[in-house]
Amino acid sequence: MKDILDVIFQRRAVKLFEPVVIAQSPRERILNAARHAPSSFNLQPYKFYWVESAAKKAAVAKLCLEQVPAETASALVVVVADIGSMPATTQGQLEWMRRSDFAESKIRDYQRTARIGRILFMPGPFGIFAVVKRVLFWLLNLLRTIGMPPLSRQDLFKWATKSTSLACQNLMLAAEALGFNTCPMEGFDRRRLSQYLGLSAQHHEIVMVIAIGKKSDAYVEPPQWRRPLDATVTVL
Ligand SMILES: Cc1cc2nc3c(=O)[nH]c(=O)nc-3n(C[C@H](O)[C@H](O)[C@H](O)COP(=O)(O)O)c2cc1C
Repeated sequence: MKDILDVIFQRRAVKLFEPVVIAQSPRERILNAARHAPSSFNLQPYKFYWVESAAKKAAVAKLCLEQVPAETASALVVVVADIGSMPATTQGQLEWMRRSDFAESKIRDYQRTARIGRILFMPGPFGIFAVVKRVLFWLLNLLRTIGMPPLSRQDLFKWATKSTSLACQNLMLAAEALGFNTCPMEGFDRRRLSQYLGLSAQHHEIVMVIAIGKKSDAYVEPPQWRRPLDATVTVL
């Protein structure tokens, strides 16, 4: 296992892989690391599709516009923001709290927060609740300092994408730490890939597809460029 900073600085988007099998144990470690990323309200609003069977991988690679990293990867991980998972996730956490003998007051607190969250995060039919909530929050904000929850479906996908992206980064760093390489990809046919996986347009949005495998010896890594620190950071 490598030091975390070495892993961060070594990770590159690799564009050509050699065919290796990723066994079940590293696969589970990589996915486990992904779901350990922090998420807003610990709601973990995402799903992973680990595509490794030859036929399905070929089909997904095709929908990734036949990009070389997709075609040569050992597996393709389709990472999906899922805004419909909140009720099941809060229910799962409640059951876990009960099993873990949390104090009744803590369980009630969580139940209350989950209920409020569900109301706040519900855009309603045709986004009607979102409009009402937006006006209410706008008026409240004139009077006091408040945060704005995600209101519309678009806001919700934006909200879910932040937590999903952190899970993606955890996944890529864990793969690197275990001696694999990755390439995150946004180049795919969103509609066809969603259809292929049977995703719901209401609840699911593909955030990225991560190609994972072992870097090919034939791959020549280009130099890595980043903007200088002072163009990126403001210290106040
Ligand atoms: C959200 C996202 C989407 C990307 N999409 C693609 C892609 O479709 N195809 C590709 O070859 N690389 C893709 N990349 C990889 C970037 O090109 C790469 O990370 C960037 O050039 C920096 O290189 P490095 O990661 O090796 O430092 C993507 C990266 C991110 C974060």
